[in-house]
Amino acid sequence: MRTWKTLVLGIGLSLIGAAAGMAQKPEAPVFTPGGELMLPDGYREWVQVGMGLGMTYGPSARKADTPLMFDNIYVPRDAYRAFIQSGKWPEGTILVKEGRKAENHELLANVGTTQGEASYLEAIVKDSARFPDTTWAFFAFGGASARRPVAKPIPKTFDCYVCHVDNTAVEKTFVQHYPELMEAAKKFGTVKAGFDPKKKF
Ligand code: HEC
Repeated sequence: MRTWKTLVLGIGLSLIGAAAGMAQKPEAPVFTPGGELMLPDGYREWVQVGMGLGMTYGPSARKADTPLMFDNIYVPRDAYRAFIQSGKWPEGTILVKEGRKAENHELLANVGTTQGEASYLEAIVKDSARFPDTTWAFFAFGGASARRPVAKPIPKTFDCYVCHVDNTAVEKTFVQHYPELMEAAKKFGTVKAGFDPKKKF
């Protein structure tokens, strides 16, 4: 009698477990039939590998009165683990970069900076079957007030591709700014041969 009860309870629990598993969204990038990337809704629960402040690059200098922005870089936990164990990104990796306005606070004796309102959201995806020429593709979902639920791959002629090829430490990603990933890349010898950390761009 007791065994039966345990068995029934066990089956019940595994069914609930399976249903919960099915409801969970995979962290892998999801594309529409038309080839647009869907905005991953759980990205803020991923591993945050980097947090740049005031990362303006390229020839146009930031004007003195433009507020600084934070760059928050998120990656799904399984891709993060794979990188830590190999120094390489697995197929199906997605990295998301979300901007947030910096806010200054006048404290008793100092001034400190924290993150405020969300801004732009961009992504990069590694999928050599879908993007045979470039392996990686770039996406932009717009600012916080005009965020799109899906984004088309940015054309290969855009500067995203140039800068992310010429200046990145590992593949097309700025691993040099993500300290624990850079350690793994050095350990496994996956930093690009000509990578120069002092190069200005
Ligand atoms: C002039 C150079 C430059 C250009 C052009 C550029 N990026 Fe980046 N990107 C960077 C840098 C530097 C970082 C690292 C940011 C940090 O450390 O906060 C970065 C990081 C990223 C990341 C986080 C993952 C990674 O690759 O490290 C994404 C996603 C991203 N950029 C998307 C884009 C998209 C989309 C475009 C084109 C619309 C673009 N970038 C154009 C320099 C560039």
